Amino acid sequence: MTLFVCHLKWSHIEKISQEVKKLVEKKIKVCVFNCRMFDEADYFTKIGDALGIEVKICSESPSLETIHLAEGCDSVSIVTTKISRDLIKKLHAMNLKIIATRTVGFDHIDLQAAEEYGIRVSNAAYAPDSVADFTIMLMLMCVRKMKTMLERTQIQDFSLEGLQGSIFSKKKIGIIGTGRIGQTVIRHLSGFGNEILSYSLKEEPGLKGLTTYVSFETLLKESDIISLHLPASEENVHLIDAETLAKMKKGVILINTARGTLLDTQAVIENVENGKIGALALDVIENETGIYYSDFISQVLTNREILLLKSFPNVIVTPHMAFYTDSAVEEMVYASLKGSLLEAKHEKNPWRII
Ligand code: COI
Repeated sequence: MTLFVCHLKWSHIEKISQEVKKLVEKKIKVCVFNCRMFDEADYFTKIGDALGIEVKICSESPSLETIHLAEGCDSVSIVTTKISRDLIKKLHAMNLKIIATRTVGFDHIDLQAAEEYGIRVSNAAYAPDSVADFTIMLMLMCVRKMKTMLERTQIQDFSLEGLQGSIFSKKKIGIIGTGRIGQTVIRHLSGFGNEILSYSLKEEPGLKGLTTYVSFETLLKESDIISLHLPASEENVHLIDAETLAKMKKGVILINTARGTLLDTQAVIENVENGKIGALALDVIENETGIYYSDFISQVLTNREILLLKSFPNVIVTPHMAFYTDSAVEEMVYASLKGSLLEAKHEKNPWRII
């Protein structure tokens, strides 16, 4: 090597070392799909610059028709759009190595296909407080009939009839799933003084004194308010269906800020109609993709379940926005870019799913 270098002119050595440096320092390129220009784009630009990543921003959803936008990129940053086997096949053909979802949940990605095609999948982690606080707000809104009150005041109806609530702290709350979000709901609720029952596959010793772990059946039977905090999986599709609803108290308040597939929407509608469910708050719903985060103000909405549910006075429907705070958005962008960078450099990625 030394001999070889000695035969080269200094200018050649400089040129070669610059080429090597360029290769080593080659910026990775991330294609950002579904980028919200009003709140995410600036973070992508700033964090991309700080991490030395080239960011291509697109507002399109990833699909077989739009995936060509990621041509020449190392990674795609996505949100909740379904990433099917066909799309993964296409990403593989384009030599894309990383899918970085800027969401905690990753049930929208065909993980088996990603693994087969050697594509890494990375998710995001943001403070659970945003979702936890939103959940507690929905609980309080249900108990104090806030939806009807807000609608009435809009039309200058300041009457009280039908608005009587009940004391929140006296409600027994059932938390299904005590992962990061469920735990935070429990901790943040502790100031209210409610009795809290929990059911989870894995019990959290740190919650001792704040909640009592019970069986799923007991939680269904004894809770006045039931809140779901578990990721979607094949096993828990329609965890709440006609059968489980039948075991709940009459007038139960149901809150879902987790994933739409956890509830059998038809069964839930029937149980609102027959009065078994006293109030319901849904931040997520089955088949929400393609509807939530878009403006349908002058269009015919074809999702009949959303149409019906939002018409009930005791049902609050919000567009999958429990996560939506300034710090959560920044953390999501950071995790998807940093996760992509770590995977590209074959370094340990704390957000790696597979
Ligand atoms: C998640 O992070 O999993 C969420 O539910 C929020 C996302 C849809 C933006």
